[in-house]
Order: sequence, then structure tokens, then C-alpha cells
Amino acid sequence: MQIETERLRLRPWQERDVAPFANINADPEVRRYYYPSILTPAETADVIAECDAHLRQHGFAFVALERKTDAALVGGLGLSIAGDEIPGGPHIEIGWILGRPYWRNGYALEAAGACLEHAWRRLGLTEVIGYTSRINDPSRALMEKLGMLSDPAEDFDDATVPVGNPLRPHVLYRARPNG
Ligand SMILES: CC(C)(COP(=O)(O)OP(=O)(O)OC[C@H]1O[C@@H](n2cnc3c(N)ncnc32)[C@H](O)[C@@H]1OP(=O)(O)O)[C@@H](O)C(=O)NCCC(=O)NCCS
Repeated sequence: MQIETERLRLRPWQERDVAPFANINADPEVRRYYYPSILTPAETADVIAECDAHLRQHGFAFVALERKTDAALVGGLGLSIAGDEIPGGPHIEIGWILGRPYWRNGYALEAAGACLEHAWRRLGLTEVIGYTSRINDPSRALMEKLGMLSDPAEDFDDATVPVGNPLRPHVLYRARPNG
């Protein structure tokens, strides 16, 4: 899976990404809407290995997001098969995580928009979902900016997050070709 935009490149993970991606996953501010929060370097390496296996098996995955001008690892973004815990599945989901220095440059919007175009035109998909904690305002705003729609009737609790934790209530968004 290789996708180029004006400023960015989505491409398979490389060995040199492990350290910078581990730094991103060790930042509590970046991971504030994740449960569990920060990841160890070994856990980040496991995530990358899982993404590589997903890419080999399905031809798409959550992949590395690189800036073209300096080859900096901006973060990770891409498509993956959602877990069984997401209601109404099976689903293919879009996901993203960017290092803090790269926020608010329009990078996530640029890369995610191109990724959805890839889903429609190259992969022939007819729907991609996104989901996040109800309180994750940045990701919700990004999904809305991408034209994704949510229906409160589809809100769900992430059973992997303890009852009473504010990250447990989740919202589900759907993207379809042409809006
Ligand atoms: C969510 C995230 C990917 C946004 O990345 P980004 O590159 O900064 O986003 P962009 O600059 O492309 O912004 C696009 C739109 O998203 C929304 N947005 C992005 N950051 C926002 C913020 N902090 N608060 C509110 N809206 C935000 C806005 O609508 C924005 O459009 P605008 O700039 O015209 O207002 C980034 O904040 C991130 O990596 N967060 C941590 C990881 C995470 O929570 N991932 C999802 C877990 S389910």
C-alpha cells in the first residue's frame, strides 16, 4: 500500500520507523484517548509486526505516514479490519495517530482523505468506519471534516475499557464513496 499526497507518503513500515513510532506511542498527550494509554517500545514493535502481517494478508493496513520533504515519520494512518467488538461488523476501519510536533498542519486530513479515495477507487470498498471515545474531540472533528457521519443510535461502549472510565463510551462514524 503506497499512497502519495502533495506533502505526504503512506507506505509500509520500515525498521527505521520503530524508534520514532515508539516515541509517539510513549507520549501521554498523544495517547490520552487510548486505553491503555502509552505503549512500551516492545509493544510498538508488536503493533508494527501486526500491521505488516495485516498488509501481507489483506493488501491494506495501518501504515507509516512520512513527510516527503525530509522523510520524517509523522505517525501512522491507514485501514484495517475492525475487531469483532465493534457492533454491526464486519467493518473496515480508518485510524490515525500523529506525533505532537506534526499536529494542526492539515496532515491527518490530507492523508486520511487520500486513504479513503484509495479505499473507494483501488480497493473497491463501499464503506469504511471510524470509531473513537465520545470525548475525543480532535478525532471526531477530523471524521466530520472527512464527511463521515455518525448516528447516536450506534454509540457503543468499548468493553475493553472499565465501566466508569470516561474513555468507555464510543461513537461510530461511517464514510461512503461520494459522501
Ligand atoms: C486527531 C489527529 C490525528 C489530528 O491530526 P492533525 O494532523 O493535527 O489534524 P489536521 O491538522 O489534519 O486537522 C484536520 C481537522 O481535524 C480537526 N482537529 C484536528 N485537531 C484538532 C483539535 N486538537 N481540536 C479540535 N479539532 C481538531 C479539525 O476539524 C481540523 O480542521 P481545521 O484545522 O480546519 O480546524 C491528531 O490530533 C492525533 O494524532 N491525535 C492523537 C491520536 C488519536 O487520538 N487518534 C485517534 C484514536 S481513536
